[in-house]
Amino acid sequence: MKILVTGGAGYIGSHICVELLQAGMEVIVLDNLYNASRKALERVKQISGRTLTFYQIDIMDKAGVRNIFDRESIDCVIHAAGLKAVGESVENPMKYYRTNLGGLLNVTEEMQRHGVKNIIFSSSATVYGDPEPDQIPLKEDFPKGTCSNPYGWTKWMQEQILTDIHMADPEWNAALLRYFNPIGAHESGLIGEDQRGIPANLLPYISQVAIGKRPYIQVFGSDYPTPDGTAVRDYIHVTDLARGHVKAIDWLYNKGGLLICNLGTGRGYSVLEIIHAFEKACGKELPYKFTSRRGGDIAAYYADCSKAARELSWTAEYGIEEMCRDSWNWQRKNPDGYQ
Ligand code: WQD
Repeated sequence: MKILVTGGAGYIGSHICVELLQAGMEVIVLDNLYNASRKALERVKQISGRTLTFYQIDIMDKAGVRNIFDRESIDCVIHAAGLKAVGESVENPMKYYRTNLGGLLNVTEEMQRHGVKNIIFSSSATVYGDPEPDQIPLKEDFPKGTCSNPYGWTKWMQEQILTDIHMADPEWNAALLRYFNPIGAHESGLIGEDQRGIPANLLPYISQVAIGKRPYIQVFGSDYPTPDGTAVRDYIHVTDLARGHVKAIDWLYNKGGLLICNLGTGRGYSVLEIIHAFEKACGKELPYKFTSRRGGDIAAYYADCSKAARELSWTAEYGIEEMCRDSWNWQRKNPDGYQ
């Protein structure tokens, strides 16, 4: 089976490619390397002992996307390419709507043209908006919420686009996978998260403090209605997340239709709990300071994962210890990422 992974050189995409190759599938990668490295694909080949085909194409390059479908007999698409920085999306909403929505339509139009009707979409828990406490843990049949930023709205709208495509032509099979907070790295330490500039997300920031690149961690808010006052999230090991995609391909071929599914662990951890877990993993005390809340953040959310267990026969295997262990292993072995 030949799978096109858009964004396949990125943090999550590269981990998906490893699992696809190790499951015996053929992998085609489309990536513009805007937020990714060609070196990640070399490492993917090293880990899996298999090769893949890479096209350095932007999803906005319709002719480039068409050329891939003309040259490769694609069976299924995993669409992970897109812009994903919450703060940047607030500053530049047009870039986010054009890239994330336009990019998806370029891919689905070429799929349509070539009779490819199997897609897995990298969605996000952000589509739930700011849920009420009695809505936690989050279930897929809860109504989608009001997003707090353009990035979240693009995920919300991309889900709607794929839902409407399936409704118009039920031969389309689509799995919309709502990622919670992916962290960690492949156990080899060869691939991992390589955020450019100042990391926006908690884990890469913590690991840069641990490696001595940054003086201390800023804890955004200590007055949330949570056990220790810091915000709670459902962190999931990126390898668990990637394995969920292999299961989703099985679902597309064996069941088919439209699937909306959380990929999380069902367990929430606070910022302070994450910091202390990382301290154990790296064997150092990590300095942090409480600062004001970050705009757009919410107190707590974590997933109800029963649907993934039922529909995909998938549950996350790794806990917070392994997530922090593997994150540190990657950072220690690659202090400057893929540079
Ligand atoms: C986690 C918690 C912060 C940094 C976002 C997107 C989501 C996905 C993952 C793309 C929050 C706190 C963070 C720091 C901190 N993005 N924090 N100090 O905001 O839950 O999710 O990134 O796929 O769609 O919404 O993740 O890692 O930024 O923050 O205290 O330096 O850590 O306030 O409570 P978030 P995050």
